[in-house]
Amino acid sequence: MKYKGIIFDLDGVICFTDHYHYLAWKALADSIDAPFDETKNDRLRGVSRMASLEIVLEEYQGTALGEEDKIALAAKKNDLYRNYLQSMSPADLSDEVRDTLNALRAKGIKLAIGSSSKNTPLILERIGLGDFFDAISDGNNITKSKPDPEVFLMAADMLHLDPKECMVVEDAEAGIQGAIAGGFDSAALGPAASSGMATYNMKSFGDLLTIAE
Ligand code: BG6
Ligand code: MG
Repeated sequence: MKYKGIIFDLDGVICFTDHYHYLAWKALADSIDAPFDETKNDRLRGVSRMASLEIVLEEYQGTALGEEDKIALAAKKNDLYRNYLQSMSPADLSDEVRDTLNALRAKGIKLAIGSSSKNTPLILERIGLGDFFDAISDGNNITKSKPDPEVFLMAADMLHLDPKECMVVEDAEAGIQGAIAGGFDSAALGPAASSGMATYNMKSFGDLLTIAE
């Protein structure tokens, strides 16, 4: 095998929560009259909650907001988002992702999560992968968000592997940048694949089986 470990981003790679993020940010933006659309939502991919809020507020023209106001707005968005997450179930994990993960594990590859999301434990539980991964590095154990490599370096460390022995799988450009900065090979899906920055560009998740050979 080319890699001893694979570190997966969660949102947009293992499952699809983008639309729930969009709906929650849109409701929040509407409540304070800040313009928000899908294009702006695309820029939030891989970015931490507070950094996302700054992007959402770029065109906000209301009364000045202090740090406490911003924390309250982020909490409001998260409440809305977690309500949507409650509707997720193991049916939100595709057969392709489930089968590929099982096949990679059967090859003896260690599997980890490297996600900016503080909701990682809830999402994994909802889709039936609560106990599946060998390591979970997420928004709860990092101080710097992607494109910083911290979340991936911590995942590799949890797997007791060197970055050179691992590959990162990402749908966000910020995530591929983080992988490169951390010394990891990377495989890109969706929007990240068009950036041309990753080691491998994938058409679908199952391509990992060939890449990892
Ligand atoms: C990333 C998403 O996985 O997690 C971002 O791509 C999101 O859009 C970030 O902002 C933080 O998520 P959460 O769940 O901690 O608000
Ligand atoms: Mg993602």
